[in-house]
Amino acid sequence: MLDASRRWRRDGKSIGLVPTMGALHEGHMSLVHAARAENDVVVVSVFVNPIQFGPNEDLDRYPRDWARDLKMLEGAQVDAVYRPAADEMYPTDASTRVHVGGVTDGLEGAARPGHFEGVATVVTKLLAAVDPDRAYFGQKDAQQVAVVKRLVRDLDLGAEVRVVPTVREADGLALSSRNVYLSPEERKAAAVISAALREAADIYASGERDPVRLRAHLAARLALEPLVQPEYAELVDAATFQKPGTLAVIAARVGKTRLIDNHDLEKPFPG
Ligand code: PAJ
Repeated sequence: MLDASRRWRRDGKSIGLVPTMGALHEGHMSLVHAARAENDVVVVSVFVNPIQFGPNEDLDRYPRDWARDLKMLEGAQVDAVYRPAADEMYPTDASTRVHVGGVTDGLEGAARPGHFEGVATVVTKLLAAVDPDRAYFGQKDAQQVAVVKRLVRDLDLGAEVRVVPTVREADGLALSSRNVYLSPEERKAAAVISAALREAADIYASGERDPVRLRAHLAARLALEPLVQPEYAELVDAATFQKPGTLAVIAARVGKTRLIDNHDLEKPFPG
């Protein structure tokens, strides 16, 4: 991968990297389209990163469909797909982990111990292997964006971190590879998450600024849907992930499936 990247660079070409875990959907493809528009060469990595999954998480059943992924990427005129094997990424004697402090303390970091260390380690390795001018991440995973921006700045990794808006279904549900786990009833109920964000944005737009009341509204709206068990609903600063702030973030279980979503209340909710 690094050889190919060095050749492109020698030819004066700019390189955009889109890191993914495969099971691609229109959310991923919107990152690919942004990269296609802004770079001479687009590289998409497809790697289900084992070290960012906890012991009781869904690594084994995480959806994988390489043939379909490849077809979608060919259709989007991607130049290269980087798809390392797990033992290539992590030989048995690999002993280095990248830890980003502070921004990883709360919310996803607290709910999923080791998760962001896994993300930061693999993103560091992907950036080292591809050496892109720009790397593309989805706003859907807002805390991951904060972690990656901090990582790239603190370690002088050089790539420009580009953030792409969340792609949603017609009823507002954020596209996610994990949505395939939802039963039809759960799928319907899951719309309450984006509905809560939309209503909080409306209330914010009408002048409400009290984070306690905005947060209470998120919780109250989520509580109306018995199939959805909220894990957290908070207002945080988008860069530090400390309270308070205007980024509304939600994690909830819908049956066995854990979903996350967020919206910056300073912006109108789309659609
Ligand atoms: P994955 O969940 O496959 O997501 C890859 C990228 O697609 C992430 O940047 C994510 O935020 C973005 N994405 C997912 N759903 C989206 C949506 N509905 N709208 C816009 N963007 C969306 O996130 C990961 O993989 C991994 O943690 C990774 C960064 C690849 C490191 O292993």
